[in-house]
Amino acid sequence: MAVESVLVTGANRGIGLEFVKQFLKLDDPPRFVFAACRNPGLATDLLDLKKESKNSEIILIQLDVTNLEEIQAAKKEVEKFVGNRGLTLLINNAGSAALQGFPGVTKESFFKHFDTNAVGPFLLMQELYPLLQKAASLKESEKLSVSRAAVINISAGNGSLTTAMGLVPVIDAAVGYRTSKAAVNMAMRIVSRAMKKDGVLNVQICPGWVKTDMGSPAAEIEVPDSIAAMLKTMLTLNENNQGDFLDRNGVPIPF
Ligand SMILES: NC(=O)c1ccc[n+]([C@@H]2O[C@H](COP(=O)([O-])OP(=O)(O)OC[C@H]3O[C@@H](n4cnc5c(N)ncnc54)[C@H](OP(=O)(O)O)[C@@H]3O)[C@@H](O)[C@H]2O)c1
Repeated sequence: MAVESVLVTGANRGIGLEFVKQFLKLDDPPRFVFAACRNPGLATDLLDLKKESKNSEIILIQLDVTNLEEIQAAKKEVEKFVGNRGLTLLINNAGSAALQGFPGVTKESFFKHFDTNAVGPFLLMQELYPLLQKAASLKESEKLSVSRAAVINISAGNGSLTTAMGLVPVIDAAVGYRTSKAAVNMAMRIVSRAMKKDGVLNVQICPGWVKTDMGSPAAEIEVPDSIAAMLKTMLTLNENNQGDFLDRNGVPIPF
């Protein structure tokens, strides 16, 4: 996978941090890795990786995905480094999940999940879009791929409407979270047709149930295994996958 530049949100821990680690280990690692997180000064793992990295430049960017000013500032920061090359890949990974059982789901819970998991990722993608278009235009003769220009949204299988009633009952308490993941899938799918014309791939991927702070130690999959599978799948993506919702192994998940 030859990705010239990548921006990962929520890069300080969990799935986002492991994405950064595995990008650095690629045979052909990205020239620029933008590791976005809410508190770069406290992101000790990222700061250590930055010190050790030889083949990629790691740029820590302060980014709360619910903060429009930080989204705009992030674009300017990325632009400073990539210049006319544009941004190759955005991984919308940051997310939050809290259980709140029915009845008793609050407006605040809905809004917080929507803000972080749907509105924020969408507005970030939109702000960075000119940079993604730029990267795509430099490889005009190529088909859609993560090496040309792409947005990968880390979604969740439990945001599927089709299978919503078939999961273990405990997950029914994630009303705000699951609704926000269904929403981001929809928003991204709607715009994926226009993005295809511009040469920008747009795909939603579920990482599986992963042992992170969000997934808990009871989860099924180790973090490195989930990310390795997603990277393998990302390599295979093309225009036939535009707007798709896939599991980490590339198998379609019904919306
Ligand atoms: N783990 C699973 O089983 C699983 C399953 C399906 C989907 N996912 C999805 O995978 C993604 C990563 O989850 P994870 O398991 O790595 O969770 P995690 O360990 O809880 O990490 C969440 C990350 O998102 C960041 N974040 C939260 N709110 C943010 C905001 N407003 N702005 C910027 N960053 C914010 C956190 O930053 P702070 O450190 O500052 O809080 C942290 O870096 C999420 O989108 C999640 O929905 C996870």
